[in-house]
Amino acid sequence: MSTTFTTQTTGAAVAESPFAPRLARIVATEQFTPKEKWFRLVFNDGQPLGHPPMAFVQVTVFGIGEAPISVCSSPTREPAFELCVRAVGSVTNAMHKLGVGETLGIRGPFGNGFKADAHRGRDFLFVAGGLGLAPARSLIQYVLDRRRDFGRTTILVGARTPGDLLFQNDLKEWQSRPDVDTHVTVDRPAEGWTGNVGVITTLFKKVKINPSATMAVIIGPPIMFKFAVLEALAAGIPETRCICSLERRMKCGLGWCGHCQIRGVYVCKEGPVFTYEQVKRLREGI
Ligand SMILES: Cc1cc2nc3c(=O)[nH]c(=O)nc-3n(C[C@H](O)[C@H](O)[C@H](O)COP(=O)(O)OP(=O)(O)OC[C@H]3O[C@@H](n4cnc5c(N)ncnc54)[C@H](O)[C@@H]3O)c2cc1C
Ligand code: FES
Repeated sequence: MSTTFTTQTTGAAVAESPFAPRLARIVATEQFTPKEKWFRLVFNDGQPLGHPPMAFVQVTVFGIGEAPISVCSSPTREPAFELCVRAVGSVTNAMHKLGVGETLGIRGPFGNGFKADAHRGRDFLFVAGGLGLAPARSLIQYVLDRRRDFGRTTILVGARTPGDLLFQNDLKEWQSRPDVDTHVTVDRPAEGWTGNVGVITTLFKKVKINPSATMAVIIGPPIMFKFAVLEALAAGIPETRCICSLERRMKCGLGWCGHCQIRGVYVCKEGPVFTYEQVKRLREGI
């Protein structure tokens, strides 16, 4: 946050506080499921967010509070940015009540994100369960928008039921692309579902993985992560190339308050993106 503002009394330029949210306008929404809603936002000043893939922002609903939310769109698609929010408590339920034209406060981007350009030439295997597709999608879009910089792209997506699948338009687009191998599964089918049924790990046998070239990005509920990481390791992908994103209770997002700490590691600053090799040492991390 490098912008400055001018005091009303003296007219002097002062550095903007990292606790001061920037105002952003909601320009599109979609209710994906009864619990998950998607938002597209633009800053009132027209500036981009300037985030790396898999970063997060602190979202303020004025009068209610603030919550950390992953940016689910790629920086290649700025100046707009997108969020997908599950209604679980005060801030997230208040967000669900907001529509196009209304304003949110945004701090950030925060976190290390994923330095995709350091992995040019690699194959990517995305394994995303439930809401884990939100942070994964920012990197999926990045890799697809820079298609020539990266190798084979495989996307495995799982949800409890067909009605719980998020980003259904993206799933259709990725499935229709010849340069992306996309597989979707649900735990429990509904009438009319003709796709895969079973947990996400059952999809591993449908895909080809070159372990010496592959970066596995595995994001989802802890139980899914545990089993998916075992599949990735069994396929020969090293622990240093299995990536996950951790969720902790956060307040400042800046490495100041300590709320997000696990064994001295500040998840808001050093994470939320970690390799499995790092995470397995943070036992309560997952
Ligand atoms: C880096 C990061 C990225 C995230 N990305 C997303 C995202 O893309 N979309 C999304 O919907 N959510 C995301 N979350 C989770 C989101 O921050 C919480 O759901 C939100 O803070 C809840 O706020 P609230 O005021 O609505 O709920 P509260 O009123 O604070 O709490 C409601 C319930 O949720 C529990 N809870 C609150 N925060 C958390 C948390 N961080 N972890 C576990 N339980 C919690 C509480 O214990 C309580 O049971 C992310 C969290 C982190 C740390
Ligand atoms: S949220 Fe304050 S130190 Fe991480």
